[in-house]
Amino acid sequence: MALVSAAVVSALLSLLVFRASSPWACLLCFTTYSERVRICQMFAGMEGPEFNQCEEAFTAAFEGLSDMEINYEERNNLHDTFTQMMHSLQEVAAAQGSFKVAFPNAAEKMKKVILQLKEVQTCIPPCGVQEIARRFLCRRCYSTLCDLPLDCPVQDIMVNRGDQAMFSCVVNFQLPKEEITYSWKFAGGGVRTQDVSFFRDLPQARGYVARIRPVQPKHRGTFSCVIKHDQRPLARLYFFLNVTGPPPRRETELQITFREVVRWSPRDTEMMEPWRPSLGELIASPGALTPGNLCLLAAIAAFASVGATVLVWLFFRWYLSGN
Ligand SMILES: *[C@@H]1O[C@H](CO)[C@@H](O)[C@H](O)[C@H]1NC(C)=O
Repeated sequence: MALVSAAVVSALLSLLVFRASSPWACLLCFTTYSERVRICQMFAGMEGPEFNQCEEAFTAAFEGLSDMEINYEERNNLHDTFTQMMHSLQEVAAAQGSFKVAFPNAAEKMKKVILQLKEVQTCIPPCGVQEIARRFLCRRCYSTLCDLPLDCPVQDIMVNRGDQAMFSCVVNFQLPKEEITYSWKFAGGGVRTQDVSFFRDLPQARGYVARIRPVQPKHRGTFSCVIKHDQRPLARLYFFLNVTGPPPRRETELQITFREVVRWSPRDTEMMEPWRPSLGELIASPGALTPGNLCLLAAIAAFASVGATVLVWLFFRWYLSGN
């Protein structure tokens, strides 16, 4: 009976000890238990009440660093700093110093170092995996990302039929510099959705900008862009394209004209000829009066005047011979 209750008491005690060591502090994340034990053994001997006091004093001195959030990129720097701190504590212990002074000093120095680390980047709503804002939590000894959804809100875009629609797959937070890919999907039939099952791939679209020209009623629906870093999705953007109104007037006229031309002489339109500008077109088109073209013009003019002279001379010969 006594044995059982002793076991229960020790179990409860160990639970209490666990609770006491959580929230963890930066000290517990960046140093090992055996490292800390070794320091206290150097300060206070192998066992006994002084050793326990040392352990308590060690944890208490670093209590202030329990709620720290560290920029994840700085965790290795911080780890190095803690290693250096343990070395200097060993030196103080070896020189018969007091842990009651050494621990608070070390904690104060560490706080200064942490304040000089690169700051944690703020999470920028409304969406996305923002690796740049990843933070290390000393309270739990793990890193975490912003609590934001992968899916960004749907952007509504209204475009007149026949015009152009353009979607930019950009986010308001900084993306990793390399291995970023974009892929596009489309949910047709006029649906405005974020439900993945509605979408099919648009394999021809690979850039961060997608353009549709001219927009037709069949393009009414939701376009989605997925930004990936090394195969891992970082954000999904949605653009609902609503196609409205009649086609622009000028376009209609052009199309009708084209159709009439086709009906009128289909063979002519099939024969594609290289463009040979007439003289008039050459002069009329901007930048046509290059030195080369000017020489050509002069030559043509010279030939024309020679030709005219010859013609007049021939006419007179014929006229005179007739008499
Ligand atoms: C598309 O635009 C039309 C005209 O403005 C509007 O009546 C309709 O509700 C819009 N469709 C959607 C799904 O928003």
